[in-house]
Amino acid sequence: MKTKNRPRPFFRMEGGHSLCGTVKVQGSKNAALPVLAATLLMEDTCRILNCPNISDIECMKILLQEVGCLVKSCGHTCEVNATTVSETWFPKREMKKMRSSIILLGAMLARKKEAQVYYPGGCLLGERPIDLHLAALEKLGAKIVQEKDMLCASCKELKGCEIKFPFPSVGATQNVLLAAVTAVGETTIVHAAKEPEICVLCEFLKKAGADIEGYGTDVISIRGVKTLHGTSFQIPSDRIVAGTYLFGALGTGGHIVLENAPIEHMEKTLETIRQMGGTITCDEAKKTIELLSDRRPCNLERLETASYPGFPTDLQSSLLTTACVSEGKLVLKDTIFGQRFRIVEELERMGARISLQDGGCTIEGVKELAGRNVIARELRGGAALVEAGLIAEGITTVFDIGFVERGYEDIVRDYRSLGAKIEKGC
Ligand code: EPZ
Repeated sequence: MKTKNRPRPFFRMEGGHSLCGTVKVQGSKNAALPVLAATLLMEDTCRILNCPNISDIECMKILLQEVGCLVKSCGHTCEVNATTVSETWFPKREMKKMRSSIILLGAMLARKKEAQVYYPGGCLLGERPIDLHLAALEKLGAKIVQEKDMLCASCKELKGCEIKFPFPSVGATQNVLLAAVTAVGETTIVHAAKEPEICVLCEFLKKAGADIEGYGTDVISIRGVKTLHGTSFQIPSDRIVAGTYLFGALGTGGHIVLENAPIEHMEKTLETIRQMGGTITCDEAKKTIELLSDRRPCNLERLETASYPGFPTDLQSSLLTTACVSEGKLVLKDTIFGQRFRIVEELERMGARISLQDGGCTIEGVKELAGRNVIARELRGGAALVEAGLIAEGITTVFDIGFVERGYEDIVRDYRSLGAKIEKGC
């Protein structure tokens, strides 16, 4: 295999400086992806505003184009017209690039009564089955046959029913929503996910004519409608990107302001930062979050990630990184993705003291980290390694930054506007 001359882009930073400045938070990846998938159901053009320019969104646009949608992008606005949908097969290459490609299964089944998809890829966070998605779609009337790694689904019609999940799944709830909005009769989802991104999808579908109630609670009711119409919709800003920068500034010390911040969806994150010693001031009218971090943060004794409104698993790596240089000890458990600790090895090489346990780890805060060459292995872990580099004394280089670019529009631009000494190279 020829790999010798292939460029290997990296982020390089000089750490040990506090962050100071203002940054505008980008649109939410995990809200935009299902909204784009939902445009497959619409009879005419949808205009989606504030879409982040990231590789996962590009991948979703390609998947929509491959089945015949007309997709036009300009800046952060994306227009999708799905009246021209002709194919029901989604290409393997793009399906394998991200986990959320699987929600196209429910949308395409609703639209064309058949769909062919591949087992989705995405970040390696341990086992990520799709059994809940498939069982729910079958209950709605789909017949799903597996041929090697391809799933062929078809139905005469989708019929509303009660779907009772054993535990909440964001993606499976989205898949059912997409399949059920135009199904015959009423669907009830019990133990539905309550994440803000579920509410965003429901708001979008409702704006397009869907009849949905109860989102944001454990039980969602969907009364199927015959058709949905095109509409325009604004994607909210990204609560995980906002949290990433807050944990960064908590770790380096400093004074930052986030503009366009999704304050209402960050309660647990902001509470955690306050408990660790950060001073947070929110201005709901201006949509800003200000963080002043003027002393070494302190570790909470224990913290577990949980479904919304609990502490998000997607910020676990950022928290872990700040905890490495905070005073005291933290026992950290990820109850959603128990294997999401692939950065531990890299942080240890930078001088962190961490011991791994089943589904979690214990962090003993040290005074400082040291710059090293490190490798990103997944999206949020990669962003946390950038954070570690900004905290550490000396130079850090983060390789395999494609993972980070799946979810962060321009992490170099954003950290530079907070005064960081960081550059992208290859
Ligand atoms: C979504 O993934 C997010 N992705 C993830 O963000 C996020 O970490 C996760 O929700 C939890 O909040 C998108 O929105 C695109 P789940 P999803 O189904 O839908 C198990 C990021 O960094 N499960 O709610 O895949 C599963 O293994 C990404 O932006 C099954 O067992 O998550 C996990 O333990 C990464 N069977 C738990 O449920 C299934 O069929 C919750 O996963 C489905 C899930």
